[in-house]
Amino acid sequence: PVADRIADLLGRMSIEEKVGQMMQLDARGNLDEEILHYNVGSILHTSPENLFRAAELVQQTRLRIPLIIGEDLIHGYSFYPGSTIFPEQLGMASSWNTELVQQAARVTAVEGSATGVHWTFSPVLCIARDTRWGRVGETFGEDPYLIGEMASAMVKGYQKGPATDGTLDQDAILATAKHFAGYSETQGGRDASEADISHRKLASWFLPPFERVAREGCGTFMLGYESIEGVPVTFNKWLLTDQLRGAWGYKGMLITDWDNVGRSVWEQRVQPDFAHASAAAVRAGNDLIMTTPQFYEGALEALKTGLLDVADIDAAVTRILSLKFRLGLFENPRLPDRERIKAVMGAREHGDVNLQLARQSVTLLKNNGVLPFTAPFEVDVADAASDKATQYAKRIALIGPLIDDAQTQLGDWAGNSGQVTWMPDGHPRECITTIADAFDELVPENWQVVRSRGANIVDLIPDPEGEFYPDGQPRPKIGVSAPVDQALIDEAVENAKQSDVIVAVVGDVVQLIGETCSTGTLELQGGQPALLEALSKVSLETGKPLVVVLMSSKPMVLPECVIGTHSVIVDESVARGTSALLWAPSPGMKGGQAIAEIILGKVNPSGRLPITFPRHAGQLPVYYNQIRGQHGNRYADLTQDPAFAFGEGLSYTTFEYGDVVIESGTTPLHADDIVRASITVTNTGNRAGAEVVQAYVGDLVTSVSWTDRELKAFQRVELEPGQTQTVEFAIPVAQCSIVDAEVNRIVEPGEFELLIGHSSRRADLKRATFVVE
Ligand code: IFM
Repeated sequence: PVADRIADLLGRMSIEEKVGQMMQLDARGNLDEEILHYNVGSILHTSPENLFRAAELVQQTRLRIPLIIGEDLIHGYSFYPGSTIFPEQLGMASSWNTELVQQAARVTAVEGSATGVHWTFSPVLCIARDTRWGRVGETFGEDPYLIGEMASAMVKGYQKGPATDGTLDQDAILATAKHFAGYSETQGGRDASEADISHRKLASWFLPPFERVAREGCGTFMLGYESIEGVPVTFNKWLLTDQLRGAWGYKGMLITDWDNVGRSVWEQRVQPDFAHASAAAVRAGNDLIMTTPQFYEGALEALKTGLLDVADIDAAVTRILSLKFRLGLFENPRLPDRERIKAVMGAREHGDVNLQLARQSVTLLKNNGVLPFTAPFEVDVADAASDKATQYAKRIALIGPLIDDAQTQLGDWAGNSGQVTWMPDGHPRECITTIADAFDELVPENWQVVRSRGANIVDLIPDPEGEFYPDGQPRPKIGVSAPVDQALIDEAVENAKQSDVIVAVVGDVVQLIGETCSTGTLELQGGQPALLEALSKVSLETGKPLVVVLMSSKPMVLPECVIGTHSVIVDESVARGTSALLWAPSPGMKGGQAIAEIILGKVNPSGRLPITFPRHAGQLPVYYNQIRGQHGNRYADLTQDPAFAFGEGLSYTTFEYGDVVIESGTTPLHADDIVRASITVTNTGNRAGAEVVQAYVGDLVTSVSWTDRELKAFQRVELEPGQTQTVEFAIPVAQCSIVDAEVNRIVEPGEFELLIGHSSRRADLKRATFVVE
């Protein structure tokens, strides 16, 4: 039995070997030292080459304990040449398609496991509320229920089962629920600062997605960089031990984030030295300490001075070894398999999953009837020479700095930002279809696509106070908005005037998103707003449709010509300069194709927002499930109305809802009952399309201030023109709970409303009520 093997090994390990077992170091460092001197338990940021070398080195150690190999396979093994790069998590969430997200994670596991990776640091379960935070694109958005659904799907896709019971197929990898917990609530959205979050707020919204995947057997948990109420999460025993291991009975492994232990000494200065920091981290419940070489001496010193007991170390090492035994690493260290890499990396069927996901992630936010440019696409290709075809555009002005920016299209963690520079050959450009490539490929033969850049976005300058590349060069991470270049705008305007339709592609840039890259503003940078103003003027003067594609890692604040004004009175007519708006959240390798197919009518858009779009950064936080306040709960100079609300997204067809029917009628329900309800949805337009039917619950009177409504279920349904479907929901009453003033989760008797419909906006929801006694 595993327990006996662990006891035997523990009995033979020296204290130095045990401490080494608790360390994870960067494989780009001195591998010999890491393995032969420290006897580390794990390495990260590897390549197949150094994995073979690492395996040889392990054979030279006294006890030959296999390594567990971790890696950031965030939306695909994005920096492995030839791999499949999916939309970022926020894009995945926009699909509201858990099955597809599970398949994407499966693909990543198949590709990653072939390369010798055992464990991915994904998914992210942080809730994105202050969207100035640089890592919003890595999240599933703002809603705890949607995050839980998506994260659960992803964990299942990676692991193919609960890894805490030790089963992990050869083509599966361990998942990590991160960043535990509240990391996204850091002050002002600035990365890794203090998080202003109470235990009650954590318990209400931030912990439930984590609890779900903990109970479902997610193999590992990773901490964040933040402090809560003055305590860095690394030392938060309440969170790591009392909640996770205690209340939720979690059996998996817990890892710190990058140098959490070291930084607590030399940056945060909440520990006097590495001995104290190491002891506090272990005592709080951490098992593996990421990239803090000083942990070795620190923990040994702490053992000598009594800050730590051997029993504390043994408990952590037992959890690490138990995972290694159960994964069978002692029998099979799961080394890179060249044949498998060749067979699976970037396989055609992986590309198919990716394309489907990219298509479903793109969200149509506005359409005054100009899109699609042609419908149905196939007919027009065939009829290109007929009269019918002449109704449609022939010359497309494709304008903007992002029409062929492969890096920004892939998003963060894709071998292109400062974080991932260790794959020197990078990702082959041929694997990526940019928007410009896709238009060239997809437009009918007699159409013309004319490109112009139109604007620059940012000038990057080295940040002397910022992070450094391994070679000592500073990362160019301070972005200065690029000056408006009138010549670029003039050229774009000329191009627009000469064309039948205008497509402008704008957004953020990959160098200014991600870890340590929060932004103070959400406005489009550089010459982009001026470009859009100029193009919207052309559109107004000439009647040529202007379609704006926002390709960005997160919601951005768009100029008035696109979304209207953000002043007290919302005047939508100001937005008349833009005919249609699409959002493509870091859509990955196939993103260009998905966007072009949607604009050209080959695909009917079906993305829905997993996060609210503000009109102004000053509106933040603007998420939909806010606490009910009293009068004055708003700004005097800004509307509270977001530009686009959570759940919104248009289709090329239309849907009509019937009434909400609650099966139990007026009969009161009990806390252990299930609310069974149904609603009919009809496709009232003339093409097939997908609707995401969303169910929200509101508790009408609560003993503490609580949210007005919260998402509790959703279903994506595909409907043919004229087709009606009855969509059924079964929502446990237990899920309609609140967290009371003493931080207990309870269902309070009384009246509830069940709201079902197209988005989180009340106007889009049909209502019925039920009573709980
Ligand atoms: O997995 C990441 C984490 O999300 C942020 N810090 C570094 C880790 C390992 O690369």
